[in-house]
Amino acid sequence: MSTPLLITPCAASQLPVDLLLEADPHLPYVQAYLANGHCYIARRDDAVVGVYVLQVRAPAILELMNIAVAPGCQAQGIGTQLLQHALHSARQLGATRLEVATGSFGHQLTFYQRAGLRVYAVEPDYFLQHYPEPLFEQGLQHKDRLRLAIDLN
Ligand SMILES: CC(C)(COP(=O)(O)OP(=O)(O)OC[C@H]1O[C@@H](n2cnc3c(N)ncnc32)[C@H](O)[C@@H]1OP(=O)(O)O)[C@@H](O)C(=O)NCCC(=O)NCCS
Repeated sequence: MSTPLLITPCAASQLPVDLLLEADPHLPYVQAYLANGHCYIARRDDAVVGVYVLQVRAPAILELMNIAVAPGCQAQGIGTQLLQHALHSARQLGATRLEVATGSFGHQLTFYQRAGLRVYAVEPDYFLQHYPEPLFEQGLQHKDRLRLAIDLN
């Protein structure tokens, strides 16, 4: 039986870049939000298995800029624990709303919806206009971006 997950705040420099790129493959964007983000790292048996990053978007509004679980550790409930921890951290940081954006209409979307996040906007062509390289997931090109949010009150 593996030991429980340990999720702690950390410095941006402690986050493995390859893991961050699993969620957002454009390094300059990742570096930009790491510069002023609240970073968290999840370890199990001393190995890094997940990360997430929150950033202030507006007064009392935080955005989950990145959430990723190590490829060999996905679909074991770690992402759900990270997301619950992110909701808790956002409240602790004084936020009344947490937002997230995604280009995925697949399992990531249901992953967020299961935690109570709801779609409030669609940004057509976002990935075509803002990313220098086309992004593909399971053979499908990311084009439009969904914005989701949850009220933390
Ligand atoms: C999204 C992500 C963080 C979820 O973490 P996780 O640890 O796999 O999530 P959980 O184990 O808590 O599972 C959440 C659900 O997604 C499903 N799931 C996870 N990975 C999946 C995959 N590759 N394909 C299909 N379903 C998947 C799980 O089966 C589970 O569904 P269930 O409760 O019906 O069994 C993780 O898949 C990941 O890091 N993906 C790459 C980075 C990424 O896409 N980040 C989000 C950017 S918007």
